[in-house]
Amino acid sequence: MSHAPPAKGRPMTLSKLAEKKALGEPIAMVTAYDYPSAQVAEAAGVDVVLVGDSGAMTVLGYPSTVPVSVDEMLVLSAAARRGLSTPLLVGDLPFGSYEASDEQAIATAHRFVKEAGCDAVKLEGSADRARAIVKAGVPVMGHVGLTPQTATALGGYRAQGRTAERAKAVLDEALELQEAGSFAIVFEAIPAEVTDVIMGRMEVPIIGIGAGPSTDGQVLVLHDLLGIHGGSQPKFVKRYADVRGEMLRGLQAYAEDVRTRAFPGPEHAYGIAPEELARLKEQLHDRQRA
Ligand code: KIV
Repeated sequence: MSHAPPAKGRPMTLSKLAEKKALGEPIAMVTAYDYPSAQVAEAAGVDVVLVGDSGAMTVLGYPSTVPVSVDEMLVLSAAARRGLSTPLLVGDLPFGSYEASDEQAIATAHRFVKEAGCDAVKLEGSADRARAIVKAGVPVMGHVGLTPQTATALGGYRAQGRTAERAKAVLDEALELQEAGSFAIVFEAIPAEVTDVIMGRMEVPIIGIGAGPSTDGQVLVLHDLLGIHGGSQPKFVKRYADVRGEMLRGLQAYAEDVRTRAFPGPEHAYGIAPEELARLKEQLHDRQRA
């Protein structure tokens, strides 16, 4: 069984994702919100890049995912598109951009494909909207469990499916999204044992985030896994780097060099031929005398 990253130049497709599930090959998915982070995701060989509405918090500084607009998400998604050629690019439909009607959902999904170049869109819950978008020609990734856009209604940012009834509700929602034609579904913050039970019923690839090891793939928010922000992070995050620490060290060293005039050095300066410099000085001297 090969777990090699996909070769660059052969774009990830929905059928390749389904094949990965069938072969038991784990799917690696990560968020990205701009050109350089998408380029890094491309170079790292991940399978799927999600321009998550988590970008509302990680790059736009909002207190939650709720305020981010479609226009803002399109700017982030288009930037990520320019940095990618191999992974599947999924754009997250923000809160309030798809719930009102099928027409609204289809119009928003089409904007993500036409204006930002997304291959697919993701939405939270809403099997009916998923069905309408799929029928309109845009592949849909579902999202169940902890759905941050409606976290208040779910009792806050907490694990879901922790009673038999709540676990059954998560299963039902996942089955509805699958039946609606979703090509994959994110399971967020669900007890691992509940995921194990649900996985037996799922035919499409399931991507977990805080849902245990039995899903077909995993997704993490880039800023969590690389340590780009300083705040607290959910229990399910594994931190693979301290990028914020590195950025801070670099900026502090730069500011110190500027203040002590250690930067710029001669190697950072442009030169001029000595005779040209002499002519300039002569001209300025002549002008002063005139
Ligand atoms: O917005 C996001 O980053 C997400 C992932 C956590 C799946 O929805």
